[in-house]
Amino acid sequence: MKKIILAAAAALAIVPVSAAVNAAEEGPQLMHVEWTFDGLFGKFDKQQLQRGYQVYKEVCSSCHSMNYVAFRNLEDLGYSEGQVKAVAAEYEYPDIDDEGSETTRKGKASDHFKNPYPNEKFARASNNGALPPDLSLMTKARVDGPNYVYSLLLGYGEAPEDIQMLDGMNYNKYFSSGSYQIAMAQQLFDDLVTYADGTPATAEQMSKDVVAFLHWAAEPKLEARHSTGFRVMLYTLIFTILTYLLKKRIWARLEKK
Ligand code: HEC
Repeated sequence: MKKIILAAAAALAIVPVSAAVNAAEEGPQLMHVEWTFDGLFGKFDKQQLQRGYQVYKEVCSSCHSMNYVAFRNLEDLGYSEGQVKAVAAEYEYPDIDDEGSETTRKGKASDHFKNPYPNEKFARASNNGALPPDLSLMTKARVDGPNYVYSLLLGYGEAPEDIQMLDGMNYNKYFSSGSYQIAMAQQLFDDLVTYADGTPATAEQMSKDVVAFLHWAAEPKLEARHSTGFRVMLYTLIFTILTYLLKKRIWARLEKK
């Protein structure tokens, strides 16, 4: 028994050390935020998601698509059907009229977010050759995604002298490519947006909010998954206790004989 406890203690002690070593190999340690959606009971904060959507819409959507999200999904954030229809109607989508000619129509709740560029070549030509990736699944596509995107958005600065910066590139110590050079310039500056709910729009606040929004987009069923997980664990726990009590009863009878 003592051996088992010692082995377990050793394993617990080794895990954080090896995690730290891995992180060190992959680049600087990411900044860490206490997300409302972390942990077994994690939930999204709808007010925060609305602020995050505002940041995406007013800042990021001029370069980044979110092809997997439809306007009607925004009802999850607490917007009414009418509000969602009004937002969708702000955009124009290509259509074909009764004579078969190309035309445009106003967006509907069932439309997906509009891509800012007509095609990839156009997108690259507008961004110094780099393609702004679709953000629908971004927080799941990177290691420790929410903390990574948060750190990236705030990780700009002067390049150290030993790094030769290429033309039009920006120094960012968290960029996943490992080159520290990113084609996206710094986007978030204090008071860039005016939040509808009056929250002060610091760069940190906007980064946090837009990341929460991106994480909702990547995992809209997170809350349902957490509550199912919890119920399954509770069920398993009760079942284990009942089985244990049953075992005790049966053996109590046998041991008496
Ligand atoms: C002016 C255009 C532009 C705007 C606005 C913009 N981005 Fe970008 N973004 C880019 C480009 C270009 C890249 C690709 C960079 C590269 O590959 O060097 C990129 C890359 C990214 C990446 C991927 C980084 C990686 O690890 O590959 C994330 C995440 C990102 N942007 C988030 C955002 C968010 C969030 C916003 C809004 C706050 C935003 N961007 C606004 C142009 C933009």
